[in-house]
Amino acid sequence: MPEPHPAPLIEVRDLVRRYGQGRLGGHRLTAVNGVSFSVMPAETLGLVGESGSGKSTTGRMLLGLEPLDEGEVFFNGTRISGLSPRAMKPWRRQMQVIFQDPYGALNPRQRVGDFVAEPLRVHKLAPSRSERADRVAALFRQVGLDPAFMHRYPHEFSGGQRQRICIARALALKPAFIVADEPITALDVSIQAQIVNLFQDLSETMGLAYLFISHDLAMIRYLCHRVAVMLRGRIVELAPVETLFDDPRHPYTQSLLRAIPNPDPDHRPPAHPRFDVDAHIPERDMEMVEVSPGHFVLRH
Ligand SMILES: Nc1ncnc2c1ncn2[C@@H]1O[C@H](COP(=O)(O)OP(=O)(O)OP(=O)(O)O)[C@@H](O)[C@H]1O
Ligand SMILES: [Mg+2]
Repeated sequence: MPEPHPAPLIEVRDLVRRYGQGRLGGHRLTAVNGVSFSVMPAETLGLVGESGSGKSTTGRMLLGLEPLDEGEVFFNGTRISGLSPRAMKPWRRQMQVIFQDPYGALNPRQRVGDFVAEPLRVHKLAPSRSERADRVAALFRQVGLDPAFMHRYPHEFSGGQRQRICIARALALKPAFIVADEPITALDVSIQAQIVNLFQDLSETMGLAYLFISHDLAMIRYLCHRVAVMLRGRIVELAPVETLFDDPRHPYTQSLLRAIPNPDPDHRPPAHPRFDVDAHIPERDMEMVEVSPGHFVLRH
């Protein structure tokens, strides 16, 4: 029998988010403008684009942390957008988020073990104190931390260890999907690779899927299966990672890739002018064209 066509774990369709009142002649900003993509089980989808392009807003909308002005979100084929917070709760368990600043996420007066245990307590998954301690110890080991550290406070840890603590908490409810929003940007360069490797190990051992938001194209290339490029609230290109790096089609993607330092001393960056966003993205005729299997480019 042929393999059944795999179904997406996450699917978003035509997400739109507008900010500003629009009254009193105020400017109305469309932060996310018709964004659609899917994430397969155990897949890492990268989301890149300049600051303010709508990456974090997209991630928050997907998780139900930000209202949708338009569009839909599906988890395993079930529409989860528009659900009440109560109806959303069982779905939220399966979708977690990791932010850029692990110190900001931690409570300086809370022992890190209690921080990791909190979701277990809230969702009544390990009712007794000793069960929770066992589970927290297992989570600490899973992210490469000594369980003996669970009684310590956040200030006693390095940045990389704090991010591991946040990852342990995100894993507590055994999610299927994680939005990682610039999760390594705030870390020392020497630590970044370790945390990226941890993400990769977790994907392989737990079958976790990620939306991995990053400015770092080298990390994206290393970690992601597919990449979506965002510009001014829109996805302008989406492709398997090697296709995107070998054959970028949208002028904005091309300009992003040209900006990567090339280690070859004979390499001269081509003398193209920087892509002019306004000139190339008209409001209408916003169509994604599939130029090769799985490689979509916004008509430009
Ligand atoms: N709560 C808000 N109120 C008003 N405008 C907002 C709000 N949140 C985001 N924006 C605006 O929406 C746009 C997209 O923001 P978003 O944070 O999603 O961008 P980003 O791609 O994540 O940027 P960065 O790479 O800097 O994190 C920006 O212009 C931002 O100023
Ligand atoms: Mg952001």
